[in-house]
Amino acid sequence: MGHGYFVTSILLCFLFAPCYHSLGEPIDSGGNLLNNMKNATLSVPKPFLLSPGAKFTNGGGNTISHYAMWHTASGKNYGLRAEMSIWGSPNQQYSQESGAAIQIYCEDGGHYSLIQAGFHVPPSLYHNRDVRFFTYATKDTISLGCYNLHCAGFVPAKGAAMVPGQAVAPPSIYGEADHYFRLSLNEDPNSGDWVLYRHDLDKPSFLGHFPREFCPTRSRIQALTGFVNYLNTTTGPPMGSGHFPNNDVKRSAYFKHVKMYDSKGHAWDPHTTRVFDVVDRPDCYNATGLLFDFKKGYTFYYGGPSGCVG
Ligand SMILES: *[C@@H]1O[C@H](CO)[C@@H](O)[C@H](O)[C@H]1NC(C)=O
Ligand SMILES: *[C@@H]1O[C@H](CO)[C@@H](O)[C@H](O)[C@H]1NC(C)=O
Ligand SMILES: *[C@@H]1O[C@H](CO)[C@@H](O)[C@H](O)[C@H]1NC(C)=O
Repeated sequence: MGHGYFVTSILLCFLFAPCYHSLGEPIDSGGNLLNNMKNATLSVPKPFLLSPGAKFTNGGGNTISHYAMWHTASGKNYGLRAEMSIWGSPNQQYSQESGAAIQIYCEDGGHYSLIQAGFHVPPSLYHNRDVRFFTYATKDTISLGCYNLHCAGFVPAKGAAMVPGQAVAPPSIYGEADHYFRLSLNEDPNSGDWVLYRHDLDKPSFLGHFPREFCPTRSRIQALTGFVNYLNTTTGPPMGSGHFPNNDVKRSAYFKHVKMYDSKGHAWDPHTTRVFDVVDRPDCYNATGLLFDFKKGYTFYYGGPSGCVG
């Protein structure tokens, strides 16, 4: 494959069914990350959180960004875990991006640094519409980071079960089946690094970490976000399932079994946590609140159709 970029197809977990791992099938040897770097500005999410409850601002320029998310207040937050549904976006254009992420914003001298992990469809980065696992880190929300391993930030574990840039499959099928990954991103009580795990395999699988410098203070906001970015010369791509959210896991994108972490690295239900919904264009992309369901735990649905103007 020369210097081509290898990706591995991963079979997702079906609800309540065992997981199977499909090994080493490169499905995109054409994407060259060095070239893709030049296009990265197009695909960088710009969720600039100014203060809790404050409005998000776009990064300016010719990229439009929208969000459907919830987030905590700023404070001593130690991380999140959730099951994130995976949706393809078969008609997405080259200059559109659609995705979802677990995000930690850390106050750092008056601004927020950001670390995040999730899944997205970014045709401009890889020249196809595969759903990709990504990580992203930036010391402030204005300078650019990148979505893969070509910038400082995420440090993948040796032999990780999933690496940034890797394509994942299959996506959920509207009305028939939902597929998800269970990810956690939390501060390791010993090292202070932010560790990323995948929990939908037989046992928790360590994917890698963001060094502690990316989140130097204890003043943190944590968020679960559906996002889109697109050039202002086009309209918005679908978010999530491409449908407005309802409480049907086969028809709405979701984050379910949402848990928070405490300072000792233990997960707990966010029943006493005040959370804020932030939807900047509810006519285009909407979200439900963080709902509790006996079977699905704390759950949040989000999404919207393509065609958002502005
Ligand atoms: C992305 O970069 C490539 C190589 O530099 C260029 O040919 C292409 O036009 C760029 N695409 C966009 C959407 O900017
Ligand atoms: C897109 O954004 C650029 C930069 O802000 C601006 O110059 C241009 O007029 C915009 N185009 C459209 C179609 O809104
Ligand atoms: C967005 O969702 C909220 C909460 O479910 C709902 O009250 C509101 O009517 C929705 N907005 C639109 C424009 O559909």
